[in-house]
Amino acid sequence: MRKLVFAISALALVTSAAFADPIADRQALMKANGKAMKELTGIVKGEAAFDAAIVLAALNRLSEDAGKMDPATLWPAGSETGGDTTSAPKIWEDPAGFQAAIDKFKSDADAAVAAAPADVDGLKAQMGVVGSNCGGCHETFRIKKG
Ligand code: HEC
Repeated sequence: MRKLVFAISALALVTSAAFADPIADRQALMKANGKAMKELTGIVKGEAAFDAAIVLAALNRLSEDAGKMDPATLWPAGSETGGDTTSAPKIWEDPAGFQAAIDKFKSDADAAVAAAPADVDGLKAQMGVVGSNCGGCHETFRIKKG
């Protein structure tokens, strides 16, 4: 019986280790950011009709994603390499700068949610502010591929 319990707990350990993959987790979070941005820029470009509820939901997702960007969980020491990460070494060299970039993204996304746009022009203005965080952080903290 004790052997069985041990086998089961060892299995649980292996399983949880397989799920604790910070590189996959942070990339999944970024993909969600990309999806929300794509939805919003599609509306700005006139590819989709302006719908205040859809816009607010996408802005909310960006704000929630920003809130999930915890460096200790998603960019822990030891996850600098492995997988096909494009996270730059600068994240671990300048943790305060990286945290500041996350905080700015979060506060810009929160501000956009608080002042939910009523029309395309309002959304356009907000996208300029919120969207600048994506490229701004990538410029410094992400390795360009290719
Ligand atoms: C505070 C920094 C920061 C902000 C803000 C940020 N990103 Fe990223 N992003 C990163 C880092 C670091 C990576 C590399 C992740 C990895 O591969 O380890 C990344 C990767 C990505 C990827 C590629 C994911 C993959 O599957 O490899 C996409 C897409 C992306 N970001 C979209 C966005 C969008 C859209 C926004 C703005 C709404 C945004 N990001 C805001 C830091 C940031």
